[in-house]
Amino acid sequence: MQEKPGDMDKSHYPKHIAIIMDGNGRWAQKRHLPRIMGHPAGVKAVKRVVKFCAEEDIQVLTLFAFSSENWRRPKDEVSKLMGLFMLTMEKEVKRLHKNNIRLRFIGERTDFSESIQLKMAESEQLTQDNAGLTLVIAANYGGHRDITLAVQDIAQQVKEGIIAPDEIDETMIAGSLSIPDLPDPDLFIRSGGEKRISNFLLWQLAYTEFYFTDELWPDFKAETMQVAIDDFLTRERRFGRTSEQVQSMSN
Ligand code: IPE
Ligand code: IPE
Ligand code: MG
Repeated sequence: MQEKPGDMDKSHYPKHIAIIMDGNGRWAQKRHLPRIMGHPAGVKAVKRVVKFCAEEDIQVLTLFAFSSENWRRPKDEVSKLMGLFMLTMEKEVKRLHKNNIRLRFIGERTDFSESIQLKMAESEQLTQDNAGLTLVIAANYGGHRDITLAVQDIAQQVKEGIIAPDEIDETMIAGSLSIPDLPDPDLFIRSGGEKRISNFLLWQLAYTEFYFTDELWPDFKAETMQVAIDDFLTRERRFGRTSEQVQSMSN
């Protein structure tokens, strides 16, 4: 985006924002609608947030769309969610591409239908050279599973004699997880009032700043995002150091 006169300095803005979009079901129930009606309303909130991040030059936005535990929901809700996932990709990917947004997916794909898997692959391929916002959709994602797959991968390398056990370090583990090439989230947001991670990016959230709001996801606005960012900007990220050390480093 072009710098406009009066634009504030955004150099301290989070580079990577990760969101648990929670509260769709309750949003619908509050309106005496079936829970599933909350999900299409949630997609509208996704569009607002993606637009905001693209305009504010955020590098990466990761959205938790469907957890590996969400298969436990009633069959009808799961099948409606799958339909909505497909429909949203069909309707929105071209627009994302036009806006220079790169789309990526994390999570295990093989549990999705062939047609969804194909659409995911096509969408990633279409947008792979886009240099604007990277939009990561966590679909059938679980943090435990992510780490488990990384461990399997590393164990295989040990078995083949490519590495020794004591060569396994944090960098290697991080590099074996999903999205190894992207920075860890700076800011984590969860809507819907719950204060838990629900098996989201367990490893990658080690030093992320957390922001919780009671607002239900379909009510989530660009302004809420700005409030979360403003709150983030007041935090002192110490990464284990003392406040004095951090301040002398930034001078
Ligand atoms: C989040 O909203 C969307 C998904 C998990 C797919 P919920 O459906 O969890 O909404 P609540 O938490 O039941 O209100
Ligand atoms: C987390 O929400 C997963 C997504 C938003 C996709 P849930 O509604 O599934 O989380 P819990 O079950 O309340 O922890
Ligand atoms: Mg929920």
